[in-house]
Formats: sequence, structure tokens, C-alpha cells
Amino acid sequence: MDIIRVEFIKSSPDVKSCPAPSFPEYAFAGRSNVGKSSLINMLTVRKNLAKTSSIPGKTQCINHYLVNDAWYLVDLPGYGYARTSKAIKTRFPVIIKDYLLQRKTLACLFVLIDARREPMEIDLKFIHWAGKTRIPLVLCFTKTDKLSALQLRHKLDLYQEKLFETWAELPDFITTSSVHKKGRNEIIDIIVRSINLMNG
Ligand code: GTP
Ligand code: MG
Repeated sequence: MDIIRVEFIKSSPDVKSCPAPSFPEYAFAGRSNVGKSSLINMLTVRKNLAKTSSIPGKTQCINHYLVNDAWYLVDLPGYGYARTSKAIKTRFPVIIKDYLLQRKTLACLFVLIDARREPMEIDLKFIHWAGKTRIPLVLCFTKTDKLSALQLRHKLDLYQEKLFETWAELPDFITTSSVHKKGRNEIIDIIVRSINLMNG
């Protein structure tokens, strides 16, 4: 699929303020700074569509980008970051939870995980929570340009091991790099398949 048209529609402070649910949505969640906004830019081949920053906590609202007048890419705020207390740091923001639980047009949630890190409790907790909502999930391991193929293999094995402790069947996963434009075809394929399924 060619991405012909991309339009920023709205930045919403809560799910109630989101645009009318007229199109299927593909949302990106994950820890602050994991690379959600960068991945959206990479997918749409627009350098500065979604604002990125090396300082965590850049995206604070739910941002809707309409693609080809047919579906939304949704950039969600990150979790796991707060300048304030540790308690807030380990809780998922209400805005994310409400969006995931209430948005009827959400077709697939991409959960981003920093491939360089050891499996982190907060990510495992989030994947587990999101899994229970029955939203179709895809795990995206980001920033793989920072690892050798062997290091990446080791990280993926570790993650699978961890997830198998609670999951009988693992969600799909893909490896990405916004720097090397890796994983773009895989993500677009998932979206195309999902749209085709909906259109029968
Ligand atoms: P919040 O909006 O704060 O939740 O962050 P985010 O998940 O949207 O992350 P963002 O896309 O802003 O990227 C955070 C930092 O990681 C930026 O400095 C990016 O340049 C860098 N980054 C993102 N993706 C990649 C990648 O694939 N490879 C490398 N090397 N750096 C990346
Ligand atoms: Mg962001």
C-alpha cells in the first residue's frame, strides 16, 4: 500500500475528545522514549509529522493522523515516566487505559519495547494488561540499529521466555528501526491485512 495522504487531525487530552470514530485505528503504545513518534514518522515517510524528543514524556495527548482518508495512526502518550513519584511512574496513565478500553474502532495495538533493554517489569505488566482487554496486539522491538544480530536474537529469546511464563500463545512480534527504516513493510502489511479483513 502506498501512503498517499497523511493529515494530522487532532491532539486529544482524553478519549472523549478524540475525533469521531469513523475509521479503523492503529495505535502505538510503550514506555516514554521507546520510539513511538519516530516509528509513526518512519511509517508515513514524514520526518516531522509526530513530534519526537530525546527527553521522555514528549507526547502527552492522544494524536490522530488520518492516512489515505481511510484509517488512523494513533500516537499515544508513553508510560513509565513521571517527574514526580515512583508510584505514578509504575501506573499506566488513565488516558491510555481509557483509550484502550473505550475506543471501539481500535483495530490493533502495537506495543513498543526497547530492544536494547532486558525485559522490564512495566512492559511485561502492560503487555499482560493489554492482552486481557482482547485487543489484537503486535509487539515491536525498537531501536534494533543499536544491536548486533546476535544481541538482538538473545534479547528476543529472553523476552519470549518471560512472556511464556504467563502466555500460552505469544502475540506477533516484529523488529524495527526508525533509523534504518526497518519493520516498515511488516507493519504496513499487518494494517493492510486488518483492513482487508474488515472489508470482507
Ligand atoms: P514519548 O513521546 O516521550 O513517549 O516518546 P516516544 O516513544 O514517542 O519516542 P520518540 O519517537 O520521541 O523517540 C525518543 C528518542 O529515541 C529520540 O531521541 C529518537 O531519535 C530516538 N529513537 C527513536 N527511534 C529510534 C530508532 O529506531 N533508533 C535509534 N537509534 N534511535 C531512535
Ligand atoms: Mg512521542
